[in-house]
Amino acid sequence: MNKLSVIAGKSSEDLAKKLSKKIKANLVKSEIRIFADGESKITLNGKISKNRAIVVQSIYPPVDTNLIQALLLISKAKETSSEVIAVIPYMGYARQDREFLPGEIVTMKVLGKLFKGAGASKIIAVDIHSMIGFKHFTIKTKNVSAITELVQYIKKLSLKNPLVVSPDQGGKERAKEFAKELGSEYIALEKTRDRKTGKVQIKTNNIDVANRDLILVDDIISTGGSIVKATQFLKKQKCKKIYVACTHALLINDAEKRIKKAGVTKIVSANTIPGKTSIVDISNIIAKAI
Ligand code: R5P
Repeated sequence: MNKLSVIAGKSSEDLAKKLSKKIKANLVKSEIRIFADGESKITLNGKISKNRAIVVQSIYPPVDTNLIQALLLISKAKETSSEVIAVIPYMGYARQDREFLPGEIVTMKVLGKLFKGAGASKIIAVDIHSMIGFKHFTIKTKNVSAITELVQYIKKLSLKNPLVVSPDQGGKERAKEFAKELGSEYIALEKTRDRKTGKVQIKTNNIDVANRDLILVDDIISTGGSIVKATQFLKKQKCKKIYVACTHALLINDAEKRIKKAGVTKIVSANTIPGKTSIVDISNIIAKAI
């Protein structure tokens, strides 16, 4: 019996398969039935190692269903395996890591307890929204970055005089790292978001991006609001082409269409969330982290 098992959650089947090959683990697939009332019922196909099991399950929409399935898989793995590592490529709820407005629940605190209670001894995430989220966890945590892989892809596009742009100040360090690996400059725009309505505005003045190809870099694209506003602003500054590189492309509803309509040439994202834009494979960086 292999000493290492990878348990593929439904939300990360392809990534789990790639990972199992890289780390030479046996792959255990999960069969899911969703009952009429929304409950998840999971049956595992295959034997789990007694030594170490790695559960791979991303928490993108339906977020609560994928979260409960991750917890169920961890708990089942723990019945057999002495060590269970949970790989959560996209850590849903990571944006709820502090009380922004009085009365808000810090959901990441609750997630920390849930993962521990289910039996995980370590969590690995890819580009978690902020490390503050993991401060609420009492089990081991590791965050790995998809930036190197995203940069490798962008390099193949042979952009002329590229400039890396973060749509907000919160993403400045990410843009800096991206630009360093790409060998280019970077800037960060000033974005404001109304905490109640979610409405986004760009407040930057005086930037010179004329005749340059731009790469807008972000961790998450959800509704696309941030990227659309940034693109509209940058287009007015007479830049050339705009590319978007992000780790987690949630692309809710018609976000992709709106982003393209705003003037983005191409969206490139990692396969933490499967989809049309998820062309950058990060199984290698997860394999290294295990
Ligand atoms: C915010 O701080 C994040 O880094 C992303 O910029 C944000 O979550 C993207 O959301 P949306 O696509 O809905 O603007």
